[in-house]
Amino acid sequence: MCGIVGYIGSKKTKEILLDGLGELEYRGYDSAGIAVLQNNNFSVYKAVGKLVNLQEKAHDFEPKGFAVGIGHTRWATHGKPTELNAHPHLGESSYVVHNGIIENYAQLKRELQNEGVNFLSQTDTEVIVWLFEKELRGSASAFEAFSKTISQLHGAFAVLLVTKSEDETIFFAKQGSPMILGRDEEGEKHFASSDTPLIGKCSEVIYLEDGDFGFVKPNEIMLLDKGGNKKIPHFSKLSTNKLSAQKNGYRFFMEKEIYEQSDVITDTLLGRLSDSEIIFEELDPTLFDGINEIKLCACGTSYHSALTASYLIERYAKTRVSVEIASEFRYKEPLLCKDTLFVAISQSGETADTLETLKMAKVAGLKTLVICNVDNSSMVRLADASILTRAGIEKGVASTKAFATQVAVFWMLSLYIAKLKNSLTCKQIEDQIALLREIPRAVEIPNGLHEKITRLSKRYLHGHGFFFIGRDVFFPLALEGALKLKEISYLHAEGYPSGEMKHGPIALADPELFTIALLPQHILYEKSKSNVEELSARDSTICAISPIEFDKADDYIQTSSAHHYMIEFFEMMVVLQLLSLEIAVRLGNDVDMPRNLAKSVTVE
Ligand code: G6P
Repeated sequence: MCGIVGYIGSKKTKEILLDGLGELEYRGYDSAGIAVLQNNNFSVYKAVGKLVNLQEKAHDFEPKGFAVGIGHTRWATHGKPTELNAHPHLGESSYVVHNGIIENYAQLKRELQNEGVNFLSQTDTEVIVWLFEKELRGSASAFEAFSKTISQLHGAFAVLLVTKSEDETIFFAKQGSPMILGRDEEGEKHFASSDTPLIGKCSEVIYLEDGDFGFVKPNEIMLLDKGGNKKIPHFSKLSTNKLSAQKNGYRFFMEKEIYEQSDVITDTLLGRLSDSEIIFEELDPTLFDGINEIKLCACGTSYHSALTASYLIERYAKTRVSVEIASEFRYKEPLLCKDTLFVAISQSGETADTLETLKMAKVAGLKTLVICNVDNSSMVRLADASILTRAGIEKGVASTKAFATQVAVFWMLSLYIAKLKNSLTCKQIEDQIALLREIPRAVEIPNGLHEKITRLSKRYLHGHGFFFIGRDVFFPLALEGALKLKEISYLHAEGYPSGEMKHGPIALADPELFTIALLPQHILYEKSKSNVEELSARDSTICAISPIEFDKADDYIQTSSAHHYMIEFFEMMVVLQLLSLEIAVRLGNDVDMPRNLAKSVTVE
């Protein structure tokens, strides 16, 4: 995802900017650029692809002495990954870098075009710098122009702007996208969109708040809140340990990754939702021409997101879906027909079994699509088309945010196909898009929930096993909940469809059998409830996860009364992740690196 760095001072500006961008590389990007202002002259370098391309281009550039610089790694949202679309973007005599999305950019762009502005890029970002140039003409100072510019932007953004009209200043604004202002031992100022580029360079930082804006000069920091009131900059110490800083204060990467799901899903949705349709710029809609079946193939957690997708795609896109475990599919001598779209799902894009099935599909002449988190991975390179999930690097072996973003992509994909196939009305698609926008809030962890789960986890450290049960999409979620618990607690857990328990597993029911029951309000509530009652009648110990209190349960974790089952899905997903985490922590296990498991399984 996009990354920002900035620096104002007399050290090696180019190195500071490029090193900073290197630290953000793990977020994924498809182009990068820097702009350095020195003696009222700009030097600007941009390149598509890896950072090394930018480094080569800027090889002979050696600014010495005081300079002001900004840099950016871009993950294309509006417009293709080209040099023209790469940041920084130029107006007349100013450059801007931006993360996030300017929701009203189309209208602002039209107005500026009517006034004669000639846009070079397809990005939403370019409107910021042109708006600034326009405001500069009617303002007493560059800061006044910057403030007027920011006040006209809607959406999420983190912005740095540098201008010849005040060539010893960086202007900044933060709304909805992260931005950190750092200060080094010499009092020089740095900016970055996450703290890793600042570690080792800055001793103290300010994590800017939404609505904050202002400017920095060599000897001045001006910080204002969204009401335009001056704030006293309060710096806090920055860790010097990259690893612990990368955990952002959390005990484990897995925990951090659970907590950052709201942010990464925001990235997953970025630029892909209009009010009336799903936009996948990376897809050519003809990919779906002549397709009568979609075959989803994956391993592990990715297989569970594929199973979830099978419900969504059949329900909304009215297209037949089959789901395959890659290691099975490889050797079952499958019948592959050309009217099938083959979709591989993988966090890493390297899992050997899944990769092999993709090769098989290609050999059989099927159209192929990959849903993946890692750009340039083997699967992304091999498939006809790919959709990146934009979860950022996932370090915990037990996958959390990768699963969440995969499901978000599949929900969008089901609506994308529904639109192509006219299987939902415009109104139905609009309503679903409004729901998609609610996911980032649904995965936020409400006050008290984590503590409650920590307290409750002590009752689930023994026994002879767990059943996670649910119906519809809550069945794959139950499978995923059980897998999480198995992976990090080493306790035996199974996921089961609630309605299937009576066909065998209920024989195991006794107080030492723990049932984690998913009871969403908005899909098959009564049916799921009676399945749980059957278990309760046989004395199974039950932990119910539901917005509706359930008196037959021994433990109850309340979720909010969301108005759609998919929002309930995301809320319950977080509850299950936290429950596994806390049980594993109590058992003293290495949550991030569980025994016998690997993050990426590149052998058969
Ligand atoms: C390994 C990991 C799992 C993951 C699975 C598939 O088993 O431990 O967490 O779900 O591989 O990985 P992929 O990268 O293809 O999604």
